[in-house]
Amino acid sequence: MSTPDKKAFPYKIIPLESETQKAIARDFAGYPNGLASVNHWGFKLSATSSPKEIENLYNYPRKAGDVWVVTPPKSGTTWTQEMVWLIANDLDYDGAKRTLSERWDFLRTGALTDGEKYPDLKTTRRSDAACQQPSDSSHCAQPRFVKTHWPLSMIHPRVLDVCKVVYVARNPKDVCVSFYHHSRLMKYNEFHGDMQAFMEYFMEGLMVATPVIEHMIEAWNMRHHPNICFIFFEDMKRDLQSEIRRVAEFLGKSLSCEQVDELAEHLHFDNFKKNPYVNKEEGKTSGDFHVDRGDFIRKGKIGDWKNHFTPEMSEKFDKWMAEKLKGTDLSFTMEDA
Ligand code: A3P
Repeated sequence: MSTPDKKAFPYKIIPLESETQKAIARDFAGYPNGLASVNHWGFKLSATSSPKEIENLYNYPRKAGDVWVVTPPKSGTTWTQEMVWLIANDLDYDGAKRTLSERWDFLRTGALTDGEKYPDLKTTRRSDAACQQPSDSSHCAQPRFVKTHWPLSMIHPRVLDVCKVVYVARNPKDVCVSFYHHSRLMKYNEFHGDMQAFMEYFMEGLMVATPVIEHMIEAWNMRHHPNICFIFFEDMKRDLQSEIRRVAEFLGKSLSCEQVDELAEHLHFDNFKKNPYVNKEEGKTSGDFHVDRGDFIRKGKIGDWKNHFTPEMSEKFDKWMAEKLKGTDLSFTMEDA
């Protein structure tokens, strides 16, 4: 096996005795051990992560032809995974009758959840095992599909040399609302506070896999790389056929108009929500979800933040977003036309 490449990531645990950590432990029962800030702009992981784990993920094996979906959480990852997998596999709808976690590696390890509290997460074991495989190897005949919420700067640059990366961004207000519901649904987040409190944590970047705007700016600045296809959730909502064509071209596939329409129908929210291979309903029987707190495939709308933010919250969020986006030409579609 080749020696892992080293890259120094600044790793800092928020002290357990700090007021910040006490508040996190109170409001997120899923993170009793608190958070660690792990890169130059404060990407957060569970404090049960370790620099070694981060190095393992940085050195995750990359193989020519693999396809990655990289996103901040709650940006349409699952939706994009299904689109990408079907395009890359020549619309093998029969083959798609396996759950996404059987078809995709999820690069997270215990770091995105509390590794001590949830040691048995299937996907955690899977990506740890994959990390033992040599990099740039050709041990698998088939391309691998890899999903991660890791920001691009924490992924080895060789990935961009040899793999294709589809990056999905979404307007931060809807990400925040979607993440709020997700954090109440999933027992491994177990958020107890209200929307306003959640919004504050989100803006402060005091939750696992946040802050999200830095994550998106970083990818936006790399969007012209030939192995990155940068897409927006809102564009998928407004014109899914066009985004399917863009991704197909990016993956070197050619689809007829009928095939594009058929795939758009398969991916339509109403069908997606009913599709047991993507809708993650198994979380209800496995005990990962609170069964009385809704579904993983929830609303799928642009602008649902309007149903959750008061005018004051919206104004505060807008100011925060404007400050973060200063100096970039990244902008978002905040509401449906
Ligand atoms: P909402 O909570 O706003 O409904 P991720 O997969 O990154 O966790 O993102 C989840 C978000 O994508 C959820 O947003 C979910 O409803 C939405 N989503 C999933 N499948 C979708 C589809 N086929 N069409 C539209 N939105 C979809």
